Amino acid sequence: MKAQLNRLGNGGDQARYGVLDSRGRNPVAAVSTHSAVKLIIAAFVGLLFLVFLISNNATFSWSDQGGDPHPKLALNQPIEPDLRRPITLVCPNQTAQTESAPPVIQCRGSPPPPPSGARLRPSAACPEYFRWIHEDLRPWRETGITRDMVLRSLPFATIHMVVVGGRVYVQEYFGRGLSRNVFTLWGILQLIQRYPGRVPDFELVFNCMDMPSVKAAEYNASTGPPPPLFHYCKDDKTRDILFPDWSFWGWPETNIRPWVPLMKEMKEGNAEVKWTERVPYAYWKGTPFMGGTRLDLVKCNVTKERDWNARIYAQDWNKESKQGYHRSNLARQCHHRYRIYVEGLAWSVSQKYIMACNSPTLFVDTKFIEFFQRGLMPSRHYWPVAVNNKCRAIKFAVDWGNAHPEEAQAMGKASSDFFQEQVTMDHVYDYMLHSITEYAKLLRYQPSVPEGFTEVCMESLACHASEKTKEYMLESMERWTSDTEPCALDPPFTSDELQKLLETRENNVKQVETWEQQAGEEQGNKN
Ligand SMILES: *[C@@H]1O[C@H](CO)[C@@H](O)[C@H](O)[C@H]1NC(C)=O
Ligand SMILES: *[C@@H]1O[C@H](CO)[C@@H](O)[C@H](O)[C@H]1NC(C)=O
Ligand SMILES: *[C@@H]1O[C@H](CO)[C@@H](O)[C@H](O)[C@H]1NC(C)=O
Repeated sequence: MKAQLNRLGNGGDQARYGVLDSRGRNPVAAVSTHSAVKLIIAAFVGLLFLVFLISNNATFSWSDQGGDPHPKLALNQPIEPDLRRPITLVCPNQTAQTESAPPVIQCRGSPPPPPSGARLRPSAACPEYFRWIHEDLRPWRETGITRDMVLRSLPFATIHMVVVGGRVYVQEYFGRGLSRNVFTLWGILQLIQRYPGRVPDFELVFNCMDMPSVKAAEYNASTGPPPPLFHYCKDDKTRDILFPDWSFWGWPETNIRPWVPLMKEMKEGNAEVKWTERVPYAYWKGTPFMGGTRLDLVKCNVTKERDWNARIYAQDWNKESKQGYHRSNLARQCHHRYRIYVEGLAWSVSQKYIMACNSPTLFVDTKFIEFFQRGLMPSRHYWPVAVNNKCRAIKFAVDWGNAHPEEAQAMGKASSDFFQEQVTMDHVYDYMLHSITEYAKLLRYQPSVPEGFTEVCMESLACHASEKTKEYMLESMERWTSDTEPCALDPPFTSDELQKLLETRENNVKQVETWEQQAGEEQGNKN
């Protein structure tokens, strides 16, 4: 038990400094060696204190209170007032648990309000793809959203959620205990902790399954707007409101770590092998039996007779789980010069991990998009591949890239930079905040907690979670309230801007198709 708690303590510190580093404002970095020694001593004393607590069967805490003191305490002259507050997670007495059923967790009530009168640091503008938040909400712009409309989303619901005064109440209809539900709720709780007092009251219905479900064609002027339903993906025939998927906080079932530590590993993975020294083919590894496009992709695999420049591998989760997932380590899949992305049943969680590798992605066209997708531009961030011509297109792309190494590397860098710079965890939270805030502005009623809903809080999700879930929660937990404003959301696109954007996208895809055709014709002439 001691060992476990020590590990938890250490993990917590790492996660915390990770977050500080990623913001580039780590006050500890500026400390002299002398203070650093003091800090280490303080941390050690903190740890001893923790061990003392544990051996006395006292409340055990993942909070920063126990771990080590607030960096400010170790410094005599803080440069400016520190507006951050530590975020704590306190689990009840562990020993009691083994003897009887786990004690019911009582949520502690509202998070503390932000320091009054304090002005947070200003922030830059949000990435451009945030402007699609306005587009997602357009169907309700004129009408607003009534409670009746929200309730009409219930047939699609896995979670019905009400947030009042920073407290979260839910009714789960399906998938209770699945990562997608649990980590979606975890993400909302982190958001509320991170921006105390900022998240408005709201009521929404969430669909945590794979497919988007609100069909645009079923709604018109006489039926009224579609039911507002939050989901992780949509296509051009559905009106689901996009929201970041659960995997940003981790996906224990498939061993996918939370985004922050994974991206750090990814960066290291990118630097491991120089692009020119990578295997000069296109790599894909996954579960082939998730939709027709994937099964079809397997046909592009290399055989004795044909080489389409594709190297396709089937993921065997049973085998991998026995081997500890070493071979499926996402951060270490950047050893080929090209990566292939292909949809699953709908969007695939794998997309961001594939595209964060700085080998260019050969992106098999899909109708499904997730929230960040709208910031990606074909032939700048990825190489577009038509669904009905996959093998030929992959062969051409790889040959082209090998003949144009500079352009190919620039494309790989553009997509990897996009994820490292525009889809950071800070952006994920800001996207959630803006999306919820804009949605809440449309609500035509004051949400209240319906009968029979259960309050969830960090403690109720984490304290009795399985070991791996708990580990990912701890890793993805926000440690401090933000001292920075969320990024500034730009206004909706004008119709001209929107049209121009869509045209550029279309032209870029056409350009690549033209090259492919020309190459095919040249090939034909030679034969
Ligand atoms: C922890 O649980 C044990 C056993 O139920 C109990 O004796 C002890 O007082 C508890 N400690 C705290 C701090 O609640
Ligand atoms: C609107 O949609 C409903 C149901 O889908 C349909 O019955 C009706 O004919 C439509 N009305 C118009 C004006 O298109
Ligand atoms: C693709 O071909 C390689 C090399 O022959 C083989 O190792 C791999 O198992 C094949 N992939 C699939 C999914 O069959």
